[in-house]
Amino acid sequence: MLTTPRSALVARLRRRQALRLGVGGGIAVVLAEFGGLFAVFFRPLRQSAFGGVVEAGPVDDILGHFSETDDAPFLVTKGRYFLLHAPDGLLAVYRACPHLGCTYRFEPSENQFHCPCHSSLFDRRTGVVLGGPATRPLDLFPAQITGGVVAVNTDPRQPNLRQRTGYEAAQATPLP
Ligand code: FES
Repeated sequence: MLTTPRSALVARLRRRQALRLGVGGGIAVVLAEFGGLFAVFFRPLRQSAFGGVVEAGPVDDILGHFSETDDAPFLVTKGRYFLLHAPDGLLAVYRACPHLGCTYRFEPSENQFHCPCHSSLFDRRTGVVLGGPATRPLDLFPAQITGGVVAVNTDPRQPNLRQRTGYEAAQATPLP
């Protein structure tokens, strides 16, 4: 009967272990990659509530709305803001009146914003004051266009909320 030297047997066992580890590791890597791809393709769209970043949608859709409505403001209820088609790009304005904080609305028959509380009026494209007791334009949220999608940071605390005295081109987010 043939006998295998002990050292040869040990070496063979180690090779088998290494082979098993190699195959197992490869399978683990493949599974991890598929898991990562699954997470990328099926993750929920980033859409947080007021106070966080709230997406308004594809910029093309928003521009389509402006062209169909003669630049009527685009309301994003969930984010409590309007997007305005300013002369130099987009403005995101907080939907709280800068007078005493009421929720103002766009009044199509007047073609301007109208606050129901004390009748402050604001321009539909820049948010500047057109009448009433308000002493400053509608406050701004920072807006970004990333990958063709408009996203607005709706944190109402400073420094994200921008109070202003009038409209300037630098306030607008440029359109692609
Ligand atoms: S709260 Fe809007 S006009 Fe007073």
